[in-house]
Amino acid sequence: MKRKMMILGLALSIIAGGVFIPSADGMANTVQAAPETAIAKDAGKIGKKFNENRAYQTIYHLSETIGPRVTGTAEEKKSGQFIAKQMKKSKLKVSTQTFSIPDRLEGILTVHGDEISSRPAAGSAPTAEEGLTAPLYDAGLGLPGDFTKEAKGKIAVILRGELTFYEKAKNAAEAGAAGVIIYNHIDGLVPLTPNLGGNKTDIPVVGIKKDDGEKLLSEQEATLKVKAFKNQTSQNVIGVRKPKGIKNPDIVYVTSHYDSVPDAPGANDNASGTSVVLELARIMKNIPADKEIRFITFGAEEIGLVGSRYYISHLSEQEIKRSAANFNLDMVATNWENASQLYINTPDGSANLVWQLSQTAAAKLGKDVLYLSQGGSSDHVPFNEAGIDSANFIWGEPGTGALEPWYHTPFDTIEHISKDRLKTAGQIAGTAIYDHIKKEKTSGLQ
Ligand code: BES
Ligand code: ZN
Repeated sequence: MKRKMMILGLALSIIAGGVFIPSADGMANTVQAAPETAIAKDAGKIGKKFNENRAYQTIYHLSETIGPRVTGTAEEKKSGQFIAKQMKKSKLKVSTQTFSIPDRLEGILTVHGDEISSRPAAGSAPTAEEGLTAPLYDAGLGLPGDFTKEAKGKIAVILRGELTFYEKAKNAAEAGAAGVIIYNHIDGLVPLTPNLGGNKTDIPVVGIKKDDGEKLLSEQEATLKVKAFKNQTSQNVIGVRKPKGIKNPDIVYVTSHYDSVPDAPGANDNASGTSVVLELARIMKNIPADKEIRFITFGAEEIGLVGSRYYISHLSEQEIKRSAANFNLDMVATNWENASQLYINTPDGSANLVWQLSQTAAAKLGKDVLYLSQGGSSDHVPFNEAGIDSANFIWGEPGTGALEPWYHTPFDTIEHISKDRLKTAGQIAGTAIYDHIKKEKTSGLQ
């Protein structure tokens, strides 16, 4: 897995009653901490209300009851409807923003009626509706010399390596093969996705896992279907709460994505973040606020931040000016033991409002788990590009930032969810947001 998070080493430390906040220019700022009792009362307010069992139920519903929520599918839409319903219960003004997504391919490979998990290459030709049933042909590494005239009309099974995926597919097509299956040369939990480097092929091309490829070599025949889905849509679900009596208030965004990659129930990535967004909306529904809060769950994140980019591109200049902060929650409940650090990833690695509020909140709650780091790969990026302070909350391994080994696999399930980490992330984000949006009481003496 390609995760690498830069380590910027801005650890939180408490110095003599003050909270040490490394500022953007690297100089240390010391903020005087509030007296103990005030800390407990204030942090307790949202921290105590956060109900991790309710959030867990949301994860259960999205990942187990609905299951994988691939961009553009009925499952993604069903999840969006479920989220909208929950938001309405939290007294939010809810809207669904629908947008088009690029054409999508789905691959289904079967042998004797049993499915072998596969991934179509972007640029692969689709098959006819009923699929392509043909004899298999062992084409080695897919070099021109690996094809005899026997390959004609067959599905070439090719091992990864030596040539590019496109060269292998091209050689197969030139030898008259009717389809191509490329199997990995290394073990992995998910099928290989052949990258054709922007090229297109006239025959279907899919990738599979190493062990599946090796087994396939002893089979005679397979059925390969590559289906193209055109003109599909995805949607963002937006729940807004405006403060009473304040004109043009600042806006705080609390966001997550709710789609998943194919075959992954996406319990941690990212039913977990979505469950925190919904739980925060619930517990904040009656809190007097002087800022506008927008709770947004994005679709189409997994195909390249498409939902959040669409959302940002439709904000007016005036809305962008009013936008103060984006708290993005993506992968906040893994039970992978090593992931004991809650990374606050800002796209450029620098301390911003989200980091400062989060750090203060963690100190109030007595949770020494936060770490500021540089990191993109989620919906906080388009906010940052629009000049809005943003950060992503994600549990990772201290020092390396590594994610759980089952990230983006069929094993991202409810069994791998930690209620404890879910609660800690929810409490820290909730307290940070609360501190910023709560209406300060006036003394009446002014
Ligand atoms: N949940 C991840 C976000 C993530 C991964 C954040 C690693 C920080 C570190 C997200 O759903 C994801 O998988 N993102 C893609 C990139 C995206 C632009 C398609 C990724 O990292 O491969
Ligand atoms: Zn993901």
